[in-house]
Amino acid sequence: MTPALRLRRRATQRPAAPAPRTAACGPAPVIEVRSLVKTYGHGDATVRALRGPRDPDTGEPSGVDLTVGQGDLVAVMGSSGSGKSTLMNILGCLDVPTSGRYLLDGLDTGGLDEHQLSLVRNRKIGFVFQSFNLVPRTPALAQVELPLAYAGVRAAERRSRAMAALTLVGLADRMDHRPNELSGGQQQRVAVARALVTAPALLLADEPTGNLDSRSTEDVLAVIDRLNASGRTVVLITHEDEVARHAKRVLRLVDGRIVSDVRQAPVDGPPPALRDPAAFAAGRTGGER
Ligand SMILES: Nc1ncnc2c1ncn2[C@@H]1O[C@H](COP(=O)(O)OP(=O)(O)OP(=O)(O)O)[C@@H](O)[C@H]1O
Ligand SMILES: [Mg+2]
Repeated sequence: MTPALRLRRRATQRPAAPAPRTAACGPAPVIEVRSLVKTYGHGDATVRALRGPRDPDTGEPSGVDLTVGQGDLVAVMGSSGSGKSTLMNILGCLDVPTSGRYLLDGLDTGGLDEHQLSLVRNRKIGFVFQSFNLVPRTPALAQVELPLAYAGVRAAERRSRAMAALTLVGLADRMDHRPNELSGGQQQRVAVARALVTAPALLLADEPTGNLDSRSTEDVLAVIDRLNASGRTVVLITHEDEVARHAKRVLRLVDGRIVSDVRQAPVDGPPPALRDPAAFAAGRTGGER
């Protein structure tokens, strides 16, 4: 079977609910990155956007290693130019590494051509962007149905799954509203519903609350917390400590290297905000207990 066919078959077989976790040996990795290097340009103009630590023997960059288990909620932080978007683009199969390996949900993305990568994006990854990226003048329900239409899901099922996704993000009463009839937080929740309607293995969010006021930020983070609590794996980029508090794990990038990796809550439990809501509200998240 070709990778494309295999993907198509898995997409139609994947249940709407997240796959069960394996209790005995822990969750299987959704992301496995090994020795990942990304360089831009040539010669003197070469930029090593992702490099990892230096190999002590050769002095050469040994690349970034990263494993993200199913059900984790990871925040990626770092100053401007540290490599966050470069990493996100590779994890989202929007770009390919210069060297190294990337396995997504067990699938080695290294040998895939452009068409196969677009299938991977559609079937396995849900994207949420800072600027919402909704289709203008299109009702919320149609927005959320769109990725299912690309995936070839028939109309009746598209409708019911899109309605369920919008209900999940608290917008059951806004299905007919167009983007200009929704608040920023509501628009971003439509985008989250659109990202999760295909039941992707991974939800990737690049500054999902960057354009939102604090109230809408809380609404969107509450949705992400609930999605993660039901087993969805989430990786999000953020500059805000307030957003990173919601993560189970916080990575910090400096100059193309992961310089810290802090676990704030176990991967196989609820995210910090739902684990101990009173302590979270009081600003006490703490490390892993
Ligand atoms: N297409 C490109 N061509 C050349 N250099 C690039 C390209 N894209 C990114 N870079 C460089 O790679 C490095 C990492 O960029 P990246 O966009 O990943 O940073 P970032 O952490 O997302 O920053 P920000 O917080 O500003 O979005 C930067 O030095 C940047 O200038
Ligand atoms: Mg960026």
